Amino acid sequence: MAVLRVGVLVSGGGTNLQAIIDAIERREIPAEIATVTSNVRTAYALQRAAQRGIRTCVIDHHDFPDRTMFEQALIAEFDSQRVQLVCLAGFMRVLSPVFVHHFDQHIINIHPALLPAFKGLWGHHVHEAVIASGARFSGCSVHFVTEDVDAGPIIVQHVVPVLETDDAATLAARVLVEEHKAYPEAIALCAGGKLRVTGNRVFTS
Ligand code: GRF
Repeated sequence: MAVLRVGVLVSGGGTNLQAIIDAIERREIPAEIATVTSNVRTAYALQRAAQRGIRTCVIDHHDFPDRTMFEQALIAEFDSQRVQLVCLAGFMRVLSPVFVHHFDQHIINIHPALLPAFKGLWGHHVHEAVIASGARFSGCSVHFVTEDVDAGPIIVQHVVPVLETDDAATLAARVLVEEHKAYPEAIALCAGGKLRVTGNRVFTS
């Protein structure tokens, strides 16, 4: 089977990136990471990639006059590395239609809640909102990226309980364990080439 060329966009610590790297090294995903690109020069994710000999690239949005030019630089990096699937892994910028349409249906993201609930929230805010809602379950969702934030077709979801003793930090930690399984699973499904999207639904065969 041909190996899928993946480009990963990161802004932070990169534990999801690490899970993807490890799953590829264990040969659970027929993919290779062509570039790890960050808008944040100091992102620890870049070190994780470099430690494994993976190409890294910094494209800082502050260096561009507007979002379109920033995204064109991202596109240039990904096209130069012949990226076939873009994985957002803790990338803290919203992508405009310029980027989304360039990689149409070939961008995926992980969100630390069960979409379509709790969309558009970041970091600890999402877990605080889940706890405040009284929901008994949370989890993570890997979904295709469309123009609307956190609204694209869902590929994989993993569920965790919300405990009565939880605060945002304990819930985030429980969800993160599942993120590290769900993201490699979703990339493997994409690499398998069997996903079909109809409306907002994803079919796996
Ligand atoms: C994860 O919780 C992910 O769901 C969200 O950003 C966080 C990134 O964490 N989109 P990490 O950098 O992969 O550790």
